[in-house]
Amino acid sequence: MIAVLLGPPGSGKGTQAKQLLAERGWPQLSTGDMLRSAIAENTDLGKRAKAIMDRGELVSDEVVIGLIQDRMGKPDCKAGIVLDGFPRTIPQAHALDAMLTKVKRAVTRCVLFEIPDESLVKRLSGRRTCLKCGAMYHVESARPKKEGVCDNCGSSPLVQRDDDHADVIRKRLSVYHAQTAPIADHYEQQGKLHKLDASRAPKEVYLALIQALA
Ligand code: AP5
Repeated sequence: MIAVLLGPPGSGKGTQAKQLLAERGWPQLSTGDMLRSAIAENTDLGKRAKAIMDRGELVSDEVVIGLIQDRMGKPDCKAGIVLDGFPRTIPQAHALDAMLTKVKRAVTRCVLFEIPDESLVKRLSGRRTCLKCGAMYHVESARPKKEGVCDNCGSSPLVQRDDDHADVIRKRLSVYHAQTAPIADHYEQQGKLHKLDASRAPKEVYLALIQALA
């Protein structure tokens, strides 16, 4: 299974990819998480990426294609992969097809998470993340059992991402509509696109996702 989760920022791709990892064991390949790790480690790539991400723009195709190529070569990617946040431009989609063809594999399904923009600003501005393990919370809909403390690893604080402020969220949404949404046509032409209503509760979205990947 090679699944591409496609959708605007905040549509729930990361939440669902983590659920697929927990229940099916398919690794979540998130270019956003890879870039945030580089930032946390203060690498040259991290320093360059941070300024771009804080503006809500996209990091270069060359950089993210390289990150995915390295990660896909790891042994845990043999049985299945869930791509979260990649591809994000048409050149990235073509590069993914080419790198999979080389190893006689192909994308199985692209699932498009559909949800109105207005709901996304609310979801993202309320998101909180554990700095240690990456577990995700929401100030209204997914609160930790103890305020500010991660249920998963017990560490604190839970922080707001630098790009989860209203002005940057709006920029990310406009970049999504201009550069990422057209990827849906790429997979529709290949007969691999499945759309789901991502405005429902996480459990309902997960059931729909499992059906889409069956
Ligand atoms: P990235 O980290 O990929 O961010 P994104 O795509 O903008 O996605 P998000 O993580 O914001 O949202 P999500 O859909 O995963 O939703 P989540 O499950 O977290 O990218 C960040 C930046 O990195 C980019 O702007 C770019 O600069 C760079 N980058 C990354 N990949 C790149 C690439 N390929 N090319 C170039 N640049 C790249 O949920 C959000 C919130 O909603 C959470 O609080 C959650 O608890 C809540 N929630 C989730 N589902 C539900 C639900 N069903 N109902 C209610 N609340 C829900």
